Amino acid sequence: MQSSKSQSKRRDGLVAVFIGATSGIGLGTLKQFAKQSSSPQIYIAGCSESAAASILKELESLNPKGTYVFQETEITLLKNVDKVCEEIKSKEEKVDLLFMSPAYITLGERNDTIEGIDISYALTYYTRLRFTYNLLPLLNASSAPRVISILGGGLESEIDLQDLEIRNNFKAQKAMKYSTTQTTLAFEELANSNPSITFIHKYPGFVNTGAIGRFLGSQKGLFAKPATFFKWFLLPIVNLMAVSVDEAGERGLFLATSARYPPRNPTSGGVEATVLPKGAEVAEDIEGSGVYILGPSDDSKRFTPALAALRLQGASKIVWECTLSVFDRAVGASG
Ligand SMILES: NC(=O)c1ccc[n+]([C@@H]2O[C@H](COP(=O)([O-])OP(=O)(O)OC[C@H]3O[C@@H](n4cnc5c(N)ncnc54)[C@H](OP(=O)(O)O)[C@@H]3O)[C@@H](O)[C@H]2O)c1
Ligand SMILES: *[C@@H]1O[C@H](CO)[C@@H](O)[C@H](O)[C@H]1NC(C)=O
Ligand SMILES: *[C@@H]1O[C@H](CO)[C@@H](O)[C@H](O)[C@H]1NC(C)=O
Repeated sequence: MQSSKSQSKRRDGLVAVFIGATSGIGLGTLKQFAKQSSSPQIYIAGCSESAAASILKELESLNPKGTYVFQETEITLLKNVDKVCEEIKSKEEKVDLLFMSPAYITLGERNDTIEGIDISYALTYYTRLRFTYNLLPLLNASSAPRVISILGGGLESEIDLQDLEIRNNFKAQKAMKYSTTQTTLAFEELANSNPSITFIHKYPGFVNTGAIGRFLGSQKGLFAKPATFFKWFLLPIVNLMAVSVDEAGERGLFLATSARYPPRNPTSGGVEATVLPKGAEVAEDIEGSGVYILGPSDDSKRFTPALAALRLQGASKIVWECTLSVFDRAVGASG
């Protein structure tokens, strides 16, 4: 059977794990992935079981041959991330796709979980990397594995390697910068020791998840008139520049499956699994690493000056070691 693997054969039985897919880009990609794969096995981890019920129903109707499992848990706690991963490991021999986009917008001060990690920082970095780390053996077992984080690829900036946990002057916005920069550096480190895995860090640009329209529609009293005016006359123009959730989902699916993004060392069977369309080229990664930093139109970004400076300081190793020590402390703390 080995030699007769056709594209549709290989797609049969893809296993995917989605984190933060109850709305936005994650949900858009989840639906596309379910629709386009022949009989996927999909795990969705998130905290709202109520949203889950309608999503599961929709997935069933998009593709009745798929199997969908919603794991309801507070994913800001690494202890819970471990439980979800243990369950996946007990049921699956491989994972082909790990797609991560959870985030929570706050302008507030630090708000730690019992594990001592700020909630917004956990969602954009620690939770995502814990899933990645835990699932490495299963990803390794796939013939064309991919890890995708939707965050801020290309927007890496200077960070204090002495204070990666942001104990000084914490701001949610600063945590976003640190998450973005550390994601790229950690992916480089992981790609080094796991060369058969493709790593993608993507900045989606402005995606119209509908939140602004709903917010404006809910305005009452004094603000109702200007809000209505904005909603009906100006928002459509603003949204012209934005990408819809459906389109973001189609792009997400492309990143998850296209042969444009091979890992450093493709496993045999992995390369022919997805075929490049005529005239298309393999995307540029960071120096042959299998790590792709992509902007809003999937344009490859490689040389942010801050990143270049951080590399000279050996930042990927420092970042990854610090991340592992946060993992140990957190999981130890929540015992
Ligand atoms: N949309 C854009 O224009 C844009 C622009 C630039 C960058 N980005 C980045 O792209 C990523 C995805 O954005 P998006 O717009 O698709 O996000 P979104 O629609 O806000 O979705 C965020 C996901 O995170 C989950 N989440 C939020 N708080 C949580 C918590 N405390 N515990 C567990 N899960 C939680 C949400 O679950 P619930 O459904 O349960 O709330 C949802 O599934 C984010 O990292 C964002 O920063 C987005
Ligand atoms: C901190 O997070 C918890 C859990 O989400 C929330 O209930 C609480 O209101 C937050 N506190 C602050 C100060 O934002
Ligand atoms: C994944 O496979 C590589 C060899 O390709 C190996 O060096 C690495 O240790 C494996 N990683 C895990 C977590 O099993």
